[in-house]
Amino acid sequence: MAIERTLSIIKPDAVAKNVIGQIYSRFEAAGLKVVAARMAHLSRAEAEGFYAVHKARPFFNDLVEFMISGPVMIQALEGENAIAKNRELMGATNPKEAAAGTIRADFAESIDANAVHGSDAPETAANEIAYFFPASQVFSR
Ligand code: PPS
Repeated sequence: MAIERTLSIIKPDAVAKNVIGQIYSRFEAAGLKVVAARMAHLSRAEAEGFYAVHKARPFFNDLVEFMISGPVMIQALEGENAIAKNRELMGATNPKEAAAGTIRADFAESIDANAVHGSDAPETAANEIAYFFPASQVFSR
């Protein structure tokens, strides 16, 4: 199976709940390594740029407002099948539909405040990692 990288964001609701460590433990238990990480309070321009692909969607403004409402924890994860594995750990976008034991089922309140982001494909993962981390700040291991 391919070693992949994916971009993960622990969103403001989960940072405020003080569950960064619990979420990192799930990554590690699933064999995903944190190869880059930083905490940031995104500017509006940074959040709009990150979600530019969703600009035409009705929830775009709410999503941006939420993502700039507090600090987030941003990380690149590396491991076998990392993109799908991370999305499996996250659970469905709407926490009410997320499988039991997933991050969103356990820590998220609503589709607006859904605890985590994860890249959905190799090309988006590469673009999203580069959006937040220069290559010199990603430490393959
Ligand atoms: S996904 O995860 O990209 O397949 O999901 P998608 O449904 O395409 O949603 C894209 C991102 O928008 C967020 N989202 C919402 N935010 C606020 N309100 C509503 N109703 C809503 N619906 C979807 C969703 O969490 C995705 O954000 P990320 O950060 O990628 O998880």
